[in-house]
Amino acid sequence: LRLTFHDAIAISPALEAEGKFGGGGADGSIMIFSKTETAFHPNIGLDEVVESFRPFQERSGMGVADFIQFSGAVGTSNCPGAPVLNVSIGRTDATRPAPDGLVPEPFHDVDTILARFADAGEFDELETVWFLIAHSVAAQNDIDPTVSHAPFDSTPEIMDGQFFIETQLRGEGFIGKAGIEGVAKSPVRGEFRLQSDELLARDNRTA
Ligand code: HEM
Repeated sequence: LRLTFHDAIAISPALEAEGKFGGGGADGSIMIFSKTETAFHPNIGLDEVVESFRPFQERSGMGVADFIQFSGAVGTSNCPGAPVLNVSIGRTDATRPAPDGLVPEPFHDVDTILARFADAGEFDELETVWFLIAHSVAAQNDIDPTVSHAPFDSTPEIMDGQFFIETQLRGEGFIGKAGIEGVAKSPVRGEFRLQSDELLARDNRTA
């Protein structure tokens, strides 16, 4: 699911308007040009995901761009509580890597995050928050490796609204190392809170 997002968000009409290449969005570039794109800072950890997917993609007969979105939809639909997602097929695979700098980082402020979603797909504040339902079935591994697999809510195996409820709670402490960029104090033992989720839950445009 994270891979679907990091492939798809890498598109920028704003860059194109400046005469630069803005990326192709959900074009499979993160997997086709994985050496380049998984080295981008926000894509940390996705190299392993890409390589574990590759044999399945090669045998699937599907294009890379479609395979990423299809497998993300299947994986998400398999989560208890999730709807069965429809997938549209027929994307064109990338012929060049996306530029760096288009994937949101956990240390970005709300203005930066909202501007990025607005540029990528004309998504508004509400749609940006809707996307974050993904963090209901998510964990961190690489932001603080001392607590890898730390989930973002107390029910990471269930696609539910618990992530949104718990992100509203006051943070009490760091479950791993203190002072890591992009990490906020979390309210529940064993739970990890990204600073971006903390800020979005407290801004009057997105709370
Ligand atoms: C403001 C936007 C977002 C930021 C800053 C952000 C950042 C992050 C970070 C830092 C991690 C932890 C990575 C690691 O250490 O392994 C993560 C995990 C994850 N994110 Fe996001 N994310 C955002 C939005 C999204 C969206 C829109 C989706 C999908 C639609 C998504 C899906 C996931 C998933 C599924 C994981 C868990 C991956 C795993 O368990 O290995 N995120 N996100």
